[in-house]
Amino acid sequence: MNKLDSAIVESSLRDAGYQFVDNAKDADVVLFNTCSVRDHAEQRVMSHLGHLKHIKESKPDLVVGVIGCMAQRLGSELFKQSAVDIVCGPAQIAEIPRLIDEAIKEKKKAVAVTEKIRQLSPDGQALERFETEYGVEDSEIPGQAYVRAMHGCDKFCSYCVVPYVRGPETSRPPEAIIEQTRRLAQNGVKQVTLLGQRINAYEYKAGDKTYCLADLLNMISEIDGIEWIKFVTSYPSAKYFNQIMEAMSKLPKVCRYLHIPAQSGSDNILKAMNRGYTCAEYLKLLDMARQIVPDIAVAGDFIVGFPGETDNDFAQTVDLIKKARYKNSFIFKYSPRPGTIADKRLEDNIPQEIKNKRNCELLNVQEEISGELARDFSGKTVTVLVEGPSKKSHLDKDIVGRAGLAPPKQSGGVNPTLQSSAAKSGIQLVGRTATDWIVVFNGPPASAGETSPASTCRLGEAGPNGGPSLAGQFATVKINRTSPLTLFGELVENHTA
Ligand code: 5AD
Ligand code: SF4
Repeated sequence: MNKLDSAIVESSLRDAGYQFVDNAKDADVVLFNTCSVRDHAEQRVMSHLGHLKHIKESKPDLVVGVIGCMAQRLGSELFKQSAVDIVCGPAQIAEIPRLIDEAIKEKKKAVAVTEKIRQLSPDGQALERFETEYGVEDSEIPGQAYVRAMHGCDKFCSYCVVPYVRGPETSRPPEAIIEQTRRLAQNGVKQVTLLGQRINAYEYKAGDKTYCLADLLNMISEIDGIEWIKFVTSYPSAKYFNQIMEAMSKLPKVCRYLHIPAQSGSDNILKAMNRGYTCAEYLKLLDMARQIVPDIAVAGDFIVGFPGETDNDFAQTVDLIKKARYKNSFIFKYSPRPGTIADKRLEDNIPQEIKNKRNCELLNVQEEISGELARDFSGKTVTVLVEGPSKKSHLDKDIVGRAGLAPPKQSGGVNPTLQSSAAKSGIQLVGRTATDWIVVFNGPPASAGETSPASTCRLGEAGPNGGPSLAGQFATVKINRTSPLTLFGELVENHTA
């Protein structure tokens, strides 16, 4: 959600004539888009704001804004951080260009947040127009865009701050989602990811018809240019689940990937979390998903160290991870959030060392399963949407480590030209499969006319020694090595080549 909000704000500010710089020191305006889900994220923002106070001493005209969930949660309390000029909640992002303008001209501090967060925001229509107008391609991943299907959340899991900062659950009208996606496709977007805190609860009534997520998937599948459709995050509930899985099974553009957090494997903890399902019911949903879509990749979220979590509760979570065979899990240590039911009623009584130990143990169990699932890809070819250059030089390390600077040996199926020149070009690209596996591979070699100076490169474009840009394109990669989190391989075919 935050990435989407950032992309929309960035696009509106570019439209208003602002330019973006890489370093806060060179900026006249610094905006922090913030998350309140865990305390750690908020503390990091506070520390940046403290740092900016010093920068502002020598640069008094600098405008500093805090937007997003932390702005909604803390409101004008954020002005205690003297660097802050603008506080703007998630429902008010349409006001950002005006707020910045006023802060520059009038040098006044301004706050725009929703007063009664559990009532529908009066800013809803302005936000809808803003979103439809400025919903753009992801600035980090060319060819991909997030499209919000739902706002807010009504679930009130006892640990979670989201219902208090993002407001009531509402579904956007299907025509707005479709229009926005069509425009994105016309601008070259190939993959859309529909977003909602409980995306499978999407429900929009129009006359006699009630639209659910399966309807959206059907309608988006009709849009030319969109090739992959993803959706996150799913909530473990039976309503619409069957229809959504059937849509995934029938519609080739819908990626066979399901992010469905369980949070715990213990019924006692699930109850205290107010999740509304048992571990057995959760596993039944996974079974149903795998029966309808046998090759589906499943990812989970877990919280360790929830108040009262015993060794036995934790053992049940380990057991669930083993049974569910997730492709990957996001594991978090419980962080009490002010205003939530767990924070009001339950003592944060699991010591930090135990939280750390359980966190490590779950990561190890998951790593083993991820490693096994990854190994199944060895020797297979996969299609990826290329994101751009790999941040870490995984392949180089591997080449040096195993064969003293020689490229790894390949077996059949690899285009020999690409294979031999890949090592020469040296540029490692990263992409993701439809089932969300990260794939690192060597890009195509440079050809004389297609190189460009590094300083003019967009993320994903090769530098002087690299090849033509594949970022935002589909590519076929043959996997020759795997690790629990990453598949490594060689480019077989660039789909636009
Ligand atoms: N403490 C720790 N993790 C949390 N999450 C949400 N709230 C908290 C909290 N208070 C995790 C959940 C959720 C993910 C986005 O963040 O696992 O699925
Ligand atoms: Fe938070 Fe629960 Fe809503 Fe997810 S479903 S956003 S965990 S309240």
